[in-house]
Amino acid sequence: MTDDELDAIMRIMDAAFDPQWGEAWNRRQIASALTMSNTHATLMGASGTAPADPGESLGFAIVRAAPGEEEILLIAVMPQARRRGLGARLIATLADNARQRGATRIFLEMRENNPARTLYVAEGFMPIGRRKNYYSLRDGARMDAITFALDL
Ligand SMILES: CC(C)(COP(=O)(O)OP(=O)(O)OC[C@H]1O[C@@H](n2cnc3c(N)ncnc32)[C@H](O)[C@@H]1OP(=O)(O)O)[C@@H](O)C(=O)NCCC(=O)NCCS
Repeated sequence: MTDDELDAIMRIMDAAFDPQWGEAWNRRQIASALTMSNTHATLMGASGTAPADPGESLGFAIVRAAPGEEEILLIAVMPQARRRGLGARLIATLADNARQRGATRIFLEMRENNPARTLYVAEGFMPIGRRKNYYSLRDGARMDAITFALDL
């Protein structure tokens, strides 16, 4: 991961995640996660493919691979670039990459009131579980996470 790519991820992170939900990661967390050989970042530009220059990125995702399965740790698209299919395109790219690494399933956790649910269900994810009080919100409240799985 280059500094330019990390800058691009943090620019999208800061714009995409509403601080009230406490879902965003800071730069140190991202840099540290990406030092692990099983953790991968994908950047996406306006055309739905990797951008020529990381500064042109409109979306990103971070996944962690384990034998036979992968987990989407973060996925985000800039607010002004949403509802144009980039989120779906990111999921399709992650699924292709996961298949190539031999995975048969992808998981993710989502706070239970996230409208991204519509996207996940449309892309074939099924809700398979609930983790009570998984998220700590900015106001001190807790919120459950729904675990989704996609069979590849
Ligand atoms: C979730 C997210 C990545 C989706 O990105 P996107 O580029 O808008 O996704 P797409 O354009 O591919 O959406 C495809 C479909 O998903 C559904 N969808 C996506 N976002 C939606 C929203 N906020 N509300 C309702 N439906 C939504 C729609 O059905 C949409 O199709 P349509 O536009 O034809 O109606 C983006 O909203 C985001 O960055 N959210 C903030 C960060 C976040 O919560 N990440 C997920 C953490 S689990």
